[in-house]
Amino acid sequence: MIQETIVTTVNSTGDPHIAPMGIHVRGDKFVILPFRPCSTLNNILETKTAVINYCDDVRIFAGCLTGRREWPLKKAEKIECHYLEGALSHCELQIEHIEDDEVRPMIFCKALHTVNHRPFQGFNRAQFAVIEAAILISRLHMLPWAKVEAELEYLHIGLEKTAGENEKEAWRWLMAVVEDYKHEVIQA
Ligand SMILES: Cc1cc2nc3c(=O)[nH]c(=O)nc-3n(C[C@H](O)[C@H](O)[C@H](O)COP(=O)(O)O)c2cc1C
Repeated sequence: MIQETIVTTVNSTGDPHIAPMGIHVRGDKFVILPFRPCSTLNNILETKTAVINYCDDVRIFAGCLTGRREWPLKKAEKIECHYLEGALSHCELQIEHIEDDEVRPMIFCKALHTVNHRPFQGFNRAQFAVIEAAILISRLHMLPWAKVEAELEYLHIGLEKTAGENEKEAWRWLMAVVEDYKHEVIQA
């Protein structure tokens, strides 16, 4: 199974970094698959630490893709890293080994310490829509424009019917990026 999460890391001088990552789950083991080049991979190689954050505030996913990476963090309890204050739960990882690859290395980890902060509130279609739209936007340059338009149109149905303020705000941030891309690349 793949879980869409926010991974927090630090570099060797302790600067935190947050990024959405699809984590492959295998029992109590996890595999992080960062594409090269990326800060998450560099940080993990430098400090051998990472935290998985389980979040229902989809503004954090959309924010990371639209230049809004300043989200409140707290110090992890067992490793030198941070977790998101807004996380429902977080899992501090021990990196077990790394399978290197020119495109997408595989980082094998195990859960060292897991903390629940607040209860899961149930599934929400607008949150799903924002996550899917964020993934589309992270791949805009690789996807046919007609596919992007069709998928966003479909996702907007669930968004319209079920969104709260956070989901509406996250959607607006993502759609601003889509509009810019449309004017600068598609209509240019
Ligand atoms: C839901 C979601 C899942 C993602 N999963 C991955 C992933 O597994 N690997 C990856 O390299 N990028 C993934 N991305 C894109 C990264 O978050 C984005 O490219 C980010 O900037 C990573 O680079 P960084 O570590 O330099 O910030 C995902 C984006 C979203 C919205």
